[in-house]
Amino acid sequence: MDTREIITQIVYLVAAVLFIFGLKELSSPKTARRGNLIALLGMLLAIVITLWDKKIIDFTYIIAGIIIGSAIGAISAKKVQMTAMPQMVALFNGFGGGASVFVAFSEFISTTSTPYSVITIVLSILIGSVTFTGSLIAFAKLQGIMRGAPIVYPMQQLINGILLVAIIAASVFLVIDPSFMALMILVTVISLVLGVTSVIPIGGADMPVVISLLNSYSGLAAAATGFVLNNNVLIVSGALVGASGIILTQIMCKAMNRSLTNVLFGAVGTNDSKGVTAGPQRRQVTEYTTEDAAMMLESAQSVVIVPGYGLAVAQAQHVLQEMASELMSRGIKVRYAIHPVAGRMPGHMNVLLAEANVPYDLLLEMDEINEDFKNTDVALVIGANDVINPAARYKKDSPLYGMPILNVDQARTVMISKRSLASGFAGEDNELFYDPKTMMVFGDAKKTVTALVRMLKASS
Ligand code: TAP
Repeated sequence: MDTREIITQIVYLVAAVLFIFGLKELSSPKTARRGNLIALLGMLLAIVITLWDKKIIDFTYIIAGIIIGSAIGAISAKKVQMTAMPQMVALFNGFGGGASVFVAFSEFISTTSTPYSVITIVLSILIGSVTFTGSLIAFAKLQGIMRGAPIVYPMQQLINGILLVAIIAASVFLVIDPSFMALMILVTVISLVLGVTSVIPIGGADMPVVISLLNSYSGLAAAATGFVLNNNVLIVSGALVGASGIILTQIMCKAMNRSLTNVLFGAVGTNDSKGVTAGPQRRQVTEYTTEDAAMMLESAQSVVIVPGYGLAVAQAQHVLQEMASELMSRGIKVRYAIHPVAGRMPGHMNVLLAEANVPYDLLLEMDEINEDFKNTDVALVIGANDVINPAARYKKDSPLYGMPILNVDQARTVMISKRSLASGFAGEDNELFYDPKTMMVFGDAKKTVTALVRMLKASS
């Protein structure tokens, strides 16, 4: 090893340590920003030292790629709405997988292949291709370009099994005769098809789990590419993404009370009636004005706020924080109940409320708060729906069945702020709207909460 090589490996080691520290800090909203910066520094070091590699003969394409890639990343990060984040993550996962395929392919063309290199190249191409097309399908479903519901076709598991066996068989032949380029192209095409066939049967409320799983795949694809290139930092960073993606997938499966195999092979999802006001509309709903709501809140001793996707859409987090402070200044006990899949991405509500400077100790996880609803005067639901839907407890044919929910129905009064009786993401009607102890306060969340703040201030 020459000096340049030794320095490179030391810097790679430092970068890997920074990634690990960054990840650790990301585990709490309090330290997440610092975690991001630490990991960013690690990546900067890794990139700079890689560019110092003596084997690089022309920087033109590399610099052009860095400029274009950074511009796309920066513009998307600024422009994309928080609510569209899952689609963006899906697309970026896909790009990561696609990049692994290109790198592996170019190595296959440019270097003399050994059985070891062929195995790593095939793995990189297989995982990268499945990630690429799978992520594009996930993007299309979330963006509404494709039907969000599961697309079920006959013998889907058998077809996927046959595709996988075909890839393994072709790979064995490639190890025996690595010069067989057509076979490598075949492996790539079948892997691309496998990405499509394995993601289209998944839909609806299961999509977040799939995105997280594809994120993990993109890490595994990068790690496989690291083996192809013999690059330690790529192996380590890919493995970290792969492992943390799997952990997140597990956490989300647990939050929805589903097993990963059930998500991947169950073909359960939404019935695609999103936004439809279904039959029970004819039942009695108790509609209240914001004046009624303000009076009820004022006379409460304890209030638990349940934020959901509608809060993010309305961007009502700041005014909600103002309202909570107003209530607390009167000695009312206020807390926030955070469901693990509230919103449209993991940690969505935590990030949103942190942005509005809500103190972290007021945010309680589902397990911490659920027992407390029965001692709560008002459960104030702002733009949440599926995460409080009692159908999850008993309605076996519901896409929500089995998902643990926040027990808001046990509170003395349930106050729900949303625009209509429309269903949530899973397309399931919510009987809680028709419960006699539920006060429906219709309207945009931001307008409703702003009106509540105004009335509370006027009466103080
Ligand atoms: P949802 O069940 O989607 O309900 C959100 C409600 O917000 C809707 O019923 C909507 O009713 C209301 N809303 C929309 N815009 C509003 C506005 N401007 N003002 C007031 N209300 C508004 O949300 P949730 O309870 O947070 O549940 C999350 C769902 O998304 C779960 O099914 C979950 O599985 C899924 N999901 C979660 C994730 C992650 S990881 N968190 C990712 C993707 C999907 P109106 O139209 O009547 O106003």
